[in-house]
Amino acid sequence: MALTVTPLDNVGVEVSGFDITQPIDDDLAAELVSLWNEHGILLFRGQDVTPENQIAFSRVFGELEIHPLSETRSQEYPELFTLVNDPEKEKYLVANYNGKPMAGKLDWHIDLHYTGKPNRGALLHGVVCAQEDGMTGFGDLAKAYDALDDDTKALLEKIEVTYTFSMQRRHMRYVDLEGYEPGAYSPRKPSDINYPNFPEVAYPAVVTHPVTGRKVLEVVEQFLERIIAPHRAGLSNDEAIELLERLVAHTRKPEFHYFHQWQPGDMVLWDNWRAMHCATGTKPGMQRVIHRTTIMGDATLGRVLEA
Ligand code: SIN
Repeated sequence: MALTVTPLDNVGVEVSGFDITQPIDDDLAAELVSLWNEHGILLFRGQDVTPENQIAFSRVFGELEIHPLSETRSQEYPELFTLVNDPEKEKYLVANYNGKPMAGKLDWHIDLHYTGKPNRGALLHGVVCAQEDGMTGFGDLAKAYDALDDDTKALLEKIEVTYTFSMQRRHMRYVDLEGYEPGAYSPRKPSDINYPNFPEVAYPAVVTHPVTGRKVLEVVEQFLERIIAPHRAGLSNDEAIELLERLVAHTRKPEFHYFHQWQPGDMVLWDNWRAMHCATGTKPGMQRVIHRTTIMGDATLGRVLEA
């Protein structure tokens, strides 16, 4: 089957020319997986997506993960995780940005970064799309790495960075806190939303992608904590902080980003070992439903520092 591949803004591609309601044969599956490995972010539009065919389509890219929290997974389809703005749950997701309440806004992150074993990827399907805002952003950290100068690349080979899970955005050192105020119901600690406490994890500042062999800049603002023993790379503590600030600013450059404004039937698949993502959030009360399937990872990219 001849697929049509069209570049998106800056990073990722749109793929068309197949029908998700029809069986995906081995040749088509191999072509789709190869595009995923090549581009990291794939958009599919206008497909007739049911939960069953989203699950079957996602399996083309690997074994699926069942979400650990039973309240967030669908009873009928345990592989499907529903992201929904519903008035009862939404209040925990509302915070204020420059005096404006926003629900479900998420900083740039890699899923499960704080465990050392990020999932391989995920597929989102727009079921009910917000009329305003509600975009998902994707950032290509392989392209961000490629764009660094040679001196920075050489320095990063000597560095490990750490991530510490936190429910409190105000405790995250490298996210943009300008104008931010937690909401009345914002969780204060992991147990507020049934999460355990996670120990700190360390990653090489540059990770070699286990499948493609591409170098990926492993510096992402959410949960980013510190450089381990910066003096070993010839950096003072202040220089280490400045380096992380500079790298986070680098990853925020629009040239590495694609922001998706959802239409019903759209699906976006990303490689979580290569791409970070974020959510712009919506005004509270705005309807939005996204179905998500998660592709398991079989590689450990980081190391846990303490039990
Ligand atoms: C996510 O999977 O991180 C959420 C993305 C979104 O709600 O747009």
